[in-house]
Amino acid sequence: MRRVLVTGGAGYIGSHVAQALRENGYDVLIYDNLSTGFRWATLGGELVLGDASDGRRLQEVLAEFKPEAVLHFAAHIVVPESVQFPLKYYRNNTGGTLSLLEAMSNSGVRRLIFSSTAAVYGWAGEVPIAEDAPIRPINPYGWSKAMSERMIFDLAQTGAVEAVALRYFNVAGADPGGRLGEGKPEATHLITLATRAAAGLRPGLSVFGTDYPTSDGTCVRDYIHVADLARAHVDALRYLLDGGTTDVFNCGYSRGYSVLEVIEAVKRVTGVDFKVEYAGRRAGDPAELVAGCDKIKRVLGWRPRYDDLDFIIRTAWEWEKKRLDSQT
Ligand code: UFG
Repeated sequence: MRRVLVTGGAGYIGSHVAQALRENGYDVLIYDNLSTGFRWATLGGELVLGDASDGRRLQEVLAEFKPEAVLHFAAHIVVPESVQFPLKYYRNNTGGTLSLLEAMSNSGVRRLIFSSTAAVYGWAGEVPIAEDAPIRPINPYGWSKAMSERMIFDLAQTGAVEAVALRYFNVAGADPGGRLGEGKPEATHLITLATRAAAGLRPGLSVFGTDYPTSDGTCVRDYIHVADLARAHVDALRYLLDGGTTDVFNCGYSRGYSVLEVIEAVKRVTGVDFKVEYAGRRAGDPAELVAGCDKIKRVLGWRPRYDDLDFIIRTAWEWEKKRLDSQT
């Protein structure tokens, strides 16, 4: 069996990817410090405890497990928090990637799949955004990932690694089989918060900003189902193992929904009305982010299955209800 190391594999996205890798016949080792991940989420592989910025520990694990590739998810991901605590983001995200690259170079592990983000584009102004659009982040989170990409591409230039950076747009939903989903009580993402409001776990929802230059004044995002995103990683890994070279791909559906459209869809799918308040803009939010996805389809052969906002919401809703049932 081909061995792969998944850092951050106990987190929301990493756990879905680890599971998809296992289902595709890989032997997965999960490296996670459980700071925001969960032991119950490590269905895809064995868990080894470790911190992304602990280069020595990473090197030990790489030397012992000898994976053919690393998939690097371990990172902080909350945009407004990054505005408030930028160094936390540079240390963990940029510093963690640096430690990993050093550990990989020292142990001769040559293939990397990196969790990047649409936040590297900042306010692109271009809809949809292609991968060759300028890198102009507008928050420290986006910069921490853009700097990580830079280090990866510079190292790839030397021939030491081949890497795929996947730039995720807004990842949402839960495993359609109901085994995994967002577990963090402090989650900040729109669809998670809206389904939690519908489940009665929150009093309601605030809309952050109604004066953006979009059709209804609220921010527009491209929501991608986490299971489709997981399959993009399986495709990227196959590409690298087959001799593919360093490249970057957007992951989304090329379709944008406004915050108000998402809230309306959540109310429709769940059949629950909940309180919505209009608030000011949230720091660091670009008005509109929609992915250009021709490249990932063309080069990696990625074929999304769940390009349907209602389905994304339904899986998130089923997951929240299941969590609620298990608590009562
Ligand atoms: N929003 C609200 N109310 C809420 C939560 C969110 O109005 O209670 C709005 C936000 O202001 C934003 C939109 O919903 O306009 C989406 O916000 P999320 O927090 O769900 O996601 P972000 O777009 O901020 O960020 C996410 C990931 C990033 C990634 C980015 C790329 O967290 O890692 O998508 O689009 F970079």
